[in-house]
Amino acid sequence: MNKSSKSAYFAIMSAGFETVDWLSMSKSEKYDVVNRQLPLLLDASVDEVANLANASALLKEAFGWWWIGFYRKQLDELVLGPFQGPVACTRIAFGRGVCGSAWKENRTLIVPDVETFPGHIACSAASRSEIVVPIGKENGEFWGVLDADSEHLAHFDELDSSQLEIFCRTLVHYLA
Ligand code: SME
Repeated sequence: MNKSSKSAYFAIMSAGFETVDWLSMSKSEKYDVVNRQLPLLLDASVDEVANLANASALLKEAFGWWWIGFYRKQLDELVLGPFQGPVACTRIAFGRGVCGSAWKENRTLIVPDVETFPGHIACSAASRSEIVVPIGKENGEFWGVLDADSEHLAHFDELDSSQLEIFCRTLVHYLA
């Protein structure tokens, strides 16, 4: 590690951002750590892209999902934001796919088998199940969605939805 990366690393560590052995933890334990670490990672002095990039990296590190990232509402559609995983489609219309449906219905959608979801948008053939959490801004206006995909069937459950909703509520304070 060079001098400047060392000092950035120590700044995060001294804020209480501990190194974690994710492999030894249960899903519930991982969420406890993730939701404790997220506020330490977020930085109000940078733009939302930096915070969204680190938020998606934190989830990827903890859970290792196939794809995890954000779509942001721009005019009348969702546009790809920071993510971790394979390349993805850049635009999703209101009511289309799982993301556009979560926006339309304004609720978290858990899809145990993407092949049974009418209109599912397959960005990757490897994706088998999915969860999408709509995110509202502090003023209540719709901002976009958090989308996670797994290469395993029925990978997401109520624990994921309640904990990712907590994750998104923390994030909201750092969105433009
Ligand atoms: N499957 C999503 C599209 C986004 S990708 O999964 C990254 C959908 O149906 O909205």
